[in-house]
Amino acid sequence: MPDTPAYPVGLRLTGRRVVVLGGGGVAQRRLPALVASGADVLLVSPSATPSVEAMAETGELTWERRTYRPGDLAQAWYALIATSDPAANHAASAEAEAHRVWAVRSDDADAATAWTPATGRSEGVTVAVLTGSDPRRSAAVRDAVVEGLRDGTLAAPQYRTRTPGVALVGGGPGDPDLITVRGRRLLAEADVVIADRLGPRDLLDELPPHVEVVDAAKIPYGRFMAQEAINQALVAYAKEGKSVVRLKGGDPFVFGRGMEEVQELTRAGVPVTVVPGISSSISVPGAVGIPVTHRGVAHEFTVVSGHVAPDDARSLVDWRALAALRGTLVLLMAVERIGAIAEALIAHGRDADTPVAVVQEGTMATQRRVDATLATVGERVRAEEVRPPAVIVIGDVVAVRPDAPGPGTPDAEGGAGG
Ligand SMILES: C[S@@+](CC[C@H](N)C(=O)[O-])C[C@H]1O[C@@H](n2cnc3c(N)ncnc32)[C@H](O)[C@@H]1O
Repeated sequence: MPDTPAYPVGLRLTGRRVVVLGGGGVAQRRLPALVASGADVLLVSPSATPSVEAMAETGELTWERRTYRPGDLAQAWYALIATSDPAANHAASAEAEAHRVWAVRSDDADAATAWTPATGRSEGVTVAVLTGSDPRRSAAVRDAVVEGLRDGTLAAPQYRTRTPGVALVGGGPGDPDLITVRGRRLLAEADVVIADRLGPRDLLDELPPHVEVVDAAKIPYGRFMAQEAINQALVAYAKEGKSVVRLKGGDPFVFGRGMEEVQELTRAGVPVTVVPGISSSISVPGAVGIPVTHRGVAHEFTVVSGHVAPDDARSLVDWRALAALRGTLVLLMAVERIGAIAEALIAHGRDADTPVAVVQEGTMATQRRVDATLATVGERVRAEEVRPPAVIVIGDVVAVRPDAPGPGTPDAEGGAGG
């Protein structure tokens, strides 16, 4: 392998003829990117792998079922020479050279006039890595860069195309690893982050110093409601041309007032994107090993806010109907009123022995679980001094254990296939 480094370039192949010789594994790996680039691909090969064949059937490329013939590369801008016949590869290389067609060789990198880099894409960025003689190293470097771009640990702000506006990002239940890849990237690119108390606050420490981090709870609201003040701050920062992330716990649209913020921003003409998050309603039970559904045990789960008591005139919850359900109830914001809620459920007919788990600060280092029944949960929460944030799970799923015997009778829910 010569020491001279290759000269990197991005070929714009749209509508241009690319000839691929050989329809085996190499072609199968390279063809999707060639097709995606818009190239006019001609495949010359007596046979092809099933997925290459499928690309020909769907018209993504033209396939001539035959061996290489001199003249095949005459119209080509670029060629991939990958037949199983070394003599044909050699002849095709010579033709490529004569016509000044850049050609990759699968069997002999030295004989090639072009090398394929290890490539990857993340959010509009193409990463291409060449290390000369070590394809595994190229792939490893590519993976590290793509991964870094995806999860935001490699900050690459879009200076040219970045549009000001607000991204409402669901941060997940608290463990910083449980934010989405897109959420983390947007955080890394933000000028301003307005964060709630719940959610992955550890991520805020990682932000570069120029990022302004605003604690939503500390925005002064004067004669306004706190939420109005947050809305106003979002609009004001966005109108200054800043790229704003509104970081919320869990998912923005699960008891997160996310839509109120979307409506306010829309009214103000500010572009807004919503990035879903992992809601505590599912992930916090999961973090202590409670599945919100389980075959043969629960075919539904209902997520309910317990922020007002069952007898409160403002409550929109039909506790009688909930008590009649067999499935799982997941209560959020219910620590203070769990006694009254449990009483209401029992009064409306839910079994007092129904197992209950209370999970405080789920997914965080301080996570803890308190077990009870519907009859005892009010007292247990008081005695154990459970504090918000906590998720309360009510239902037989609480008693499902990882070491339980395998599934018994088949169940109409259908499990994974359904
Ligand atoms: C205003 S709601 C927001 C819910 C959030 N949007 C979501 O999807 O998870 C706040 C409530 O979520 C629950 N919660 C959020 N994060 C939690 C966590 N890490 N552990 C336990 N409960 C949590 C608590 O019930 C808390 O009172």
